[in-house]
Amino acid sequence: LLFYSILGCDSLDSVEQKTRVQTAVEGETVTINCTYSTTDSFPYLFWHQQEINGYPRYMLKKFPGSGEVDKQFEGRFDANLNTSRTSVPLTIKDVRVSDSAVYYCALKPTVTETHSTRIQKPCK
Ligand SMILES: *[C@@H]1O[C@H](CO)[C@@H](O)[C@H](O)[C@H]1NC(C)=O
Ligand SMILES: *[C@@H]1O[C@H](CO)[C@@H](O)[C@H](O)[C@H]1NC(C)=O
Repeated sequence: LLFYSILGCDSLDSVEQKTRVQTAVEGETVTINCTYSTTDSFPYLFWHQQEINGYPRYMLKKFPGSGEVDKQFEGRFDANLNTSRTSVPLTIKDVRVSDSAVYYCALKPTVTETHSTRIQKPCK
């Protein structure tokens, strides 16, 4: 099983995913790390999944104290936002071959856009 994650990069508010390619055995629990940086005290963090030749699909969002997981990802997918560690690792339980995809972590500062989700552009 292969997992790919993309390093996010943005000048002020940013997310960082150190692991670019991750492997797992079917049935395991997989954690995909993401740390972020923002001056926003109430950040919204998002995870998206993009399958090979697919488009990014919204999976879940987290904000301090709460969050929501999209219906089609409920059960095995979740993320744990920790504002003191500024991390929002995604965990996939009972991982399946069909979970092989690119997983994006994104930050939406509440001070700016309210309707769209920004996908961070990779660093040069
Ligand atoms: C994820 O982050 C934790 C805490 O920093 C670290 O212990 C763990 O090894 C990381 N996992 C991967 C796959 O990089
Ligand atoms: C956040 O991380 C800190 C430091 O590792 C830990 O003590 C705390 O329990 C974590 N909080 C949550 C909500 O996971």
